Amino acid sequence: MLADLQVRPPDPLLKLIKAFREDKRTDKIDLGVGVYRDESGNTPIMAAVKEAERRLLAAQTTKTYVGQQGDVDFLHLLGELVFGERAKELVSQQAVGGTGALRLGFDLLREAGARCVLMPTPSWPNHPSIIAAARLDRVDVPFFNVAKQEIELDALLARFETTSHGDAVLLQGVCHNPLGADFSREHWSALADAVVAHGVIPFIDVAYVGFGDGVEQDVGGIRAFLERVPEAVIAVSGAKTFGLYRERVGALYVQTPPAARQAAATNLAAIARSNYSMPPDHGAACVREVLSDTQLRTSWRAELDGIRSHIKKTRAALAGARVDAIPMRLIAAQQGMFSTLPLSDAQIASLRDEHGIYVTDAGRINVAGLREMDIERFVAALRAVT
Ligand code: LMR
Repeated sequence: MLADLQVRPPDPLLKLIKAFREDKRTDKIDLGVGVYRDESGNTPIMAAVKEAERRLLAAQTTKTYVGQQGDVDFLHLLGELVFGERAKELVSQQAVGGTGALRLGFDLLREAGARCVLMPTPSWPNHPSIIAAARLDRVDVPFFNVAKQEIELDALLARFETTSHGDAVLLQGVCHNPLGADFSREHWSALADAVVAHGVIPFIDVAYVGFGDGVEQDVGGIRAFLERVPEAVIAVSGAKTFGLYRERVGALYVQTPPAARQAAATNLAAIARSNYSMPPDHGAACVREVLSDTQLRTSWRAELDGIRSHIKKTRAALAGARVDAIPMRLIAAQQGMFSTLPLSDAQIASLRDEHGIYVTDAGRINVAGLREMDIERFVAALRAVT
């Protein structure tokens, strides 16, 4: 039976990571996978996290399971960071990374009777696979003009007219992957109107808090939106915000009226139980330590601010460069790790093959991975291929 399995093509991003590793050129530039890199090309462990790990190691007396819901203090502290006071009203479940939270959420929606997910495109390339794995249908709704680097909200809003009650819409909370273009307050407000008018359930993916304009600013749109809608599902990742990528830190939060909360919580617990039973401890414990200790929290915030300024500086440098075929100046106004440049497949291949510059399919660049010393060469290569 296993012999009947068909070989599948590799995930494009994982394939790119492998190709970059195997490239022998010493001056290669990796703008593929979304990780922050400092000027020495390193993705550092944050000092507050390192200290939290030291404390955990010294104090930990057992490796017995964390509970079914996960680390409740972590869930509360992370929830408070993103949702403020509202966190108390939300059902929560620790997940295996932001990706695991997305899967939990889509499984929950299917369990609740949802059939179809509207997905504004382009979106994170892994979103479609997660939606499919949860056995939900997907409707792609183009909502961004890559050539003009502009959100076209009307196209997205128009698509709500043909949804069925109980369908879901996938929205990104901040620092859009792969666009770097975020919804304005007016956009969030119009989306809330559409969601309420059509009985669509919003699923918000929040993966880059602190990488845009600052923690409070970055969660502003999400909080305002949640004020306006009766129900929502929100996946939160701690990978980037705490630099804990490989520790798989994530959580799912559900906003629903009080009478429905126990059902949501028990369904989530059952979905998690049949999948990975109970969540891993370490990354979530680090976040709990950092957020619950004033000194560690201050140090973490300062380091996160430093990462953000680094990204902003890189964006400003790119925006000041002239590449005739690309509206580079708009990159400065965008947020977070990614921007998507209007590059053809052939241009992306030339960047890789002739210049050793690795850009994700469809022209996504990881701005947060671009070192200052590489900017000039990257811009020159863009000029050469366009
Ligand atoms: C990315 O988009 O590069 C990251 O979120 C890593 C991943 O798993 O795709």
